[in-house]
Amino acid sequence: MLVVSRERCSIFPYRKHSKNLRMAPLGLAFVLLVSLVSPTSSCTDQDKGSLLWFLAGLSNDGSLAASWRDGKDCCKWEGITCSTDRVVTGVSLASKNLEGNISMSLGNLTGLKLLNLSHNSLSGGLPRELLSSHSITILDVSFNQLNGALPELPSSTPARPLQVLNISSNLFTGEFPSSIWKAAENLIALNTSKNSFTGQIPTHFCDNSPSFAVLDLSYNKFSGSIPLGLGDCSMLRVLNAGYNNLSGTLPNELFNATTLEYMCFRNNELHGVLGGAHIIKLGNLVTLDLGRNNFSGNIPDSVGQLKRMEELYFDHNSMSGELPSTLSNCTNLITINLKWNKFSGELSKVDFSKLPNLITLDLLYNNFSGTIPESIYSCSNLIALRLSYNNLHGQLSPQIGDLKHITFLSLASNSFVNITNALQILQNCRQLTVLLIGYNFKGELMPEDDIIDGFQNLRVLAINGCQLLGNIPLWISKLPNLEMLMLSSNQLTGSIPVWIKAPRYLFYLDISNNSLTGQIPTTLMDTPMLKSEKTEPHLDPGVFALPVYSAVSRQYRKPIGFPKVLDLSNNKFIGEIPQEIGQLKSLLSLNLSSNYLTGQFPESLCNLTRLQVLDLSNNNLKGAIPSALNTLHSLSAFNVSNNDLEGPIPSGGQFNTFETSSFDGNTKLCGSMLIRKCALAKAPQANILSTKETSYKTAFMIAFSAFFVVGMLYDQVVLSRYFG
Ligand SMILES: *[C@@H]1O[C@H](CO)[C@@H](O)[C@H](O)[C@H]1NC(C)=O
Ligand SMILES: *[C@@H]1O[C@H](CO)[C@@H](O)[C@H](O)[C@H]1NC(C)=O
Ligand SMILES: *[C@@H]1O[C@H](CO)[C@@H](O)[C@H](O)[C@H]1NC(C)=O
Ligand SMILES: *[C@@H]1O[C@H](CO)[C@@H](O)[C@H](O)[C@H]1NC(C)=O
Ligand SMILES: *[C@@H]1O[C@H](CO)[C@@H](O)[C@H](O)[C@H]1NC(C)=O
Ligand SMILES: *[C@@H]1O[C@H](CO)[C@@H](O)[C@H](O)[C@H]1NC(C)=O
Ligand SMILES: *[C@@H]1O[C@H](CO)[C@@H](O)[C@H](O)[C@H]1NC(C)=O
Ligand SMILES: *[C@@H]1O[C@H](CO)[C@@H](O)[C@H](O)[C@H]1NC(C)=O
Ligand SMILES: *[C@@H]1O[C@H](CO)[C@@H](O)[C@H](O)[C@H]1NC(C)=O
Ligand SMILES: *[C@@H]1O[C@H](CO)[C@@H](O)[C@H](O)[C@H]1NC(C)=O
Ligand SMILES: *[C@@H]1O[C@H](CO)[C@@H](O)[C@H](O)[C@H]1NC(C)=O
Ligand SMILES: *[C@@H]1O[C@H](CO)[C@@H](O)[C@H](O)[C@H]1NC(C)=O
Repeated sequence: MLVVSRERCSIFPYRKHSKNLRMAPLGLAFVLLVSLVSPTSSCTDQDKGSLLWFLAGLSNDGSLAASWRDGKDCCKWEGITCSTDRVVTGVSLASKNLEGNISMSLGNLTGLKLLNLSHNSLSGGLPRELLSSHSITILDVSFNQLNGALPELPSSTPARPLQVLNISSNLFTGEFPSSIWKAAENLIALNTSKNSFTGQIPTHFCDNSPSFAVLDLSYNKFSGSIPLGLGDCSMLRVLNAGYNNLSGTLPNELFNATTLEYMCFRNNELHGVLGGAHIIKLGNLVTLDLGRNNFSGNIPDSVGQLKRMEELYFDHNSMSGELPSTLSNCTNLITINLKWNKFSGELSKVDFSKLPNLITLDLLYNNFSGTIPESIYSCSNLIALRLSYNNLHGQLSPQIGDLKHITFLSLASNSFVNITNALQILQNCRQLTVLLIGYNFKGELMPEDDIIDGFQNLRVLAINGCQLLGNIPLWISKLPNLEMLMLSSNQLTGSIPVWIKAPRYLFYLDISNNSLTGQIPTTLMDTPMLKSEKTEPHLDPGVFALPVYSAVSRQYRKPIGFPKVLDLSNNKFIGEIPQEIGQLKSLLSLNLSSNYLTGQFPESLCNLTRLQVLDLSNNNLKGAIPSALNTLHSLSAFNVSNNDLEGPIPSGGQFNTFETSSFDGNTKLCGSMLIRKCALAKAPQANILSTKETSYKTAFMIAFSAFFVVGMLYDQVVLSRYFG
C-alpha cells in the first residue's frame, strides 16, 4: 500500500494527518498470494534473464543469489511478485544490503509495475530505461548512493504510466530534466529531496500531469524563482521546496493551487509581503512554513480564514507589525513559531483562549510589549512557551500555574519584576524541565530558601544577568534533576555552599560575574557528573521542547549537547586552587579567571585530558606552568595572563598554537615565543618531544580536529551569557 504522508521540512516533530493518498496494494503481500497460486507454468525466460542481468550488476547481492539461483520459476524468488499469468510485476528489494549498479535490464521486464530498491547502497546512475518504462507506475530508489545527472528522455517519448517517483536521499546532481515531466503525464508524487540538484525548478508541471499531488524538492540546491506553473496544479496537496536557494517572491499564481494542505519554503532566499487577498485562497492549508527567508510586512488579517491551519512558521524573517486578532479564528493551531522577526504591539490583541490545541508558542526575539495575556493560561495543552527577548513587563500571574503540561518556559530578557512571586507561582508547573528567566527582575533579592519547594523535574535553570542580591539559595540543592545552572551576572555574595555537589546530574555550572567570596570548596570537586568520564548514559537524553540558543546562531536540542563547564570567573575567591580539581576528568571548560587565587598552578590540571578551554588569568598564581600540560591535545583556548608565574612555557602540542597574549603580565615566564628566552637547560621537554617524532602526525591530526570543535566551544563559552 502506498501511503504518502505529509512531512514538514523543519526538524520539529510533526503529526501525520488522516487524508492519505491510497493506491492499489502492491508489494510484499503479493509474495504470499503468489505462493497460493499453483505453479502450472513458470516465469518467462526473458523476465528471468533480465533479473539475472540485474543480479550480475550487483557487487554485493546481500543474500539474494542464494534464493534466486535456486529454482527455475523466478516468480518464487525473494522480492519478486508476478501476475497470475506469470509475468513479473513487482521487484521489492528494499533494505537488502544491495551494492553495485542498477542494471538497465530491469527495463526489459515488460510487465513490471512496482520497483522498490530503497534503503540499499546502490550506486551509479538511474538507467533511462526505467524512467521511460512502458509499465512501471511506482519507482522507489530512495536512500541509496545513486549519482550523476538524471537522463534526459528523447523529446518524442510518449506518455508514461509512472505515478510515483521517489529518488530522495541519493547523490544526484545537475538539473532536473524537463523531458521527464513532459512524459510523466500520470505522475502523482515526486520526491527528489536530499540530493544535490541545481538550476531552476522545471517550469511546467501540471499542464501535462493533471493528477499531480505531492512534490518534495527539499534539501537540494535549486535556485531561481518559484515557477508560476505550480499554480496550475489543481490537485497539489504537498509542496515542499525547503532548504534550497530559491529567490524572489511567492508568485501570485502560486495561490491558485487552492488544494494545498502543506506548503514549505523554509530556508531559501525569498522575500516580499504576504498579500492578504492571496493567502485567503489557500483555505485548505494545514501547515505553512516560510521560516528562514526574508519576508517582510505583517501577517494579514485574512490568516484568520485559514481554519484548518495547525502549524504556522514565519520564524527568522523580517516581518513586523502587530499580530492580527483574527489569528484566534485559527482554532486548530498547534504550533505558532514567529521567532526572530520584528513583530511588535500587545500580545493581548490575540485571544489565545480560542486556541485550545496550542502546544508550542515561540515568539523569541521580537518587540512585543505589554504584559503576558491572561488568555494564554487557558491553553491547557501548552508544552513550550518562549517569550524571551521582547519588551514584556509586569509580574507573573498565578494563572500560569494552570499550564500543567508546560515543560519549557523561557521569559529571558524582558522587564518582568518580582522574582519571589515568579518562582512561587512557577513551582506549580510540575512538569517544567527548562526554566530560563534571566535578564529580568533587575536588582531584586534572590528569594529566601524556605519559600521555594518544587521544580522536581527541572533540568536547566537560568537566572542570569539579573543583578540579584543575596546568596546562592539552598532550594537549588533540592532540585534532584538539575543538570545546568546559570546564575552568572548577578551580585550574589557569600561563599559557594558545600552542598553544591548535591544535584547529582549537574554538569554545567556558571556562577561567574558575581561577588562570591571564600575559598573554592573541595566538595565542588566531587560533582559526580564532572568527575566521571562515563556520565552521559546517566543523563536524560531527552530533547528540549524547543531548541535553546546560547548565541544567535548556536542552538542546542538537548542538554547533553552542551559542554561540561565550570565557570567561577569574576568573583572574589581567595586561597589555592584545590589539587582535587584533577578529579573533574570530564570537564571541557574551566574558567577561574579574575579572582584572588594564590598558590601554585595545580599540577593535577594535566589530568583533565578533555579540557578545551582553560582560563586562570588575572589571579595571583605563582610557580611554574606544568610542562605536561602539552599533553592536553584538545586544549585550544589557554590564558594565564596577569599572574606571577615563572619558568619555561611548555612547548609542543597545543602550546605551539597559543598567542603570546595568553602569557602576558607574568614577567618571570620565558619561552621561545616570548621576548624573554629560556636558558637551554631549562627546556628539557623539547627533547622529549623530538623523540616522539613518529607520533607527531597523529598528534597534529588530533590537535587539528580538536581545534575545529573547540573554535565552536570557545564561541559558546564566550557568548553563552544569553540562554533564550
Ligand atoms: C557501474 O556503472 C558505472 C558507469 O555508470 C561503471 O563505470 C561501473 O563499472 C559499474 N559498476 C559495476 C559494479 O558494474
Ligand atoms: C533488453 O531487451 C532488448 C530488446 O528486447 C535486447 O536487445 C537487450 O539485449 C535486452 N537487454 C538486457 C540487458 O537484457
Ligand atoms: C519501498 O519499501 C520501503 C521499505 O519497505 C517502504 O517504506 C516504502 O514505502 C516502499 N515504497 C513504496 C513506493 O511503496
Ligand atoms: C518514497 O516516496 C513515496 C511517495 O511519496 C512513498 O510512498 C514511499 O514510502 C517513499 N519511500 C520511502 C522509502 O520512504
Ligand atoms: C521525501 O523523502 C524523504 C526521505 O528522503 C522523506 O523524509 C520525506 O517525508 C519524503 N517526502 C514526502 C512528501 O513524502
Ligand atoms: C544562490 O543563488 C544565488 C543567485 O540567486 C547565487 O548567486 C548563489 O551563489 C547561490 N548560492 C548557493 C549556495 O548555491
Ligand atoms: C491564477 O492567478 C493569476 C494571478 O493571481 C490570475 O490572474 C489567474 O486568473 C489565476 N488563474 C486561475 C485559473 O485561477
Ligand atoms: C531583507 O529585507 C529587507 C527589506 O525588507 C532588506 O533591507 C534586507 O537587506 C534584506 N536582508 C537580506 C539578508 O536580504
Ligand atoms: C474572526 O476574528 C474576528 C476578530 O477576532 C471576529 O470578529 C470574527 O467574527 C472572526 N471571524 C470568523 C469567521 O470567525
Ligand atoms: C520596540 O517597540 C517600542 C515600543 O514598544 C519602540 O519604541 C521601539 O522602537 C521598538 N524597537 C524596535 C527595534 O523596533
Ligand atoms: C512580590 O510577590 C510577593 C509574593 O507573591 C508578594 O507578597 C509581594 O507583595 C510582591 N511584591 C510586589 C512589590 O508586588
Ligand atoms: C593524575 O591521575 C592519576 C591517575 O588517575 C593519578 O595517579 C595522579 O596522581 C594524578 N596526577 C595528579 C598530578 O594529580
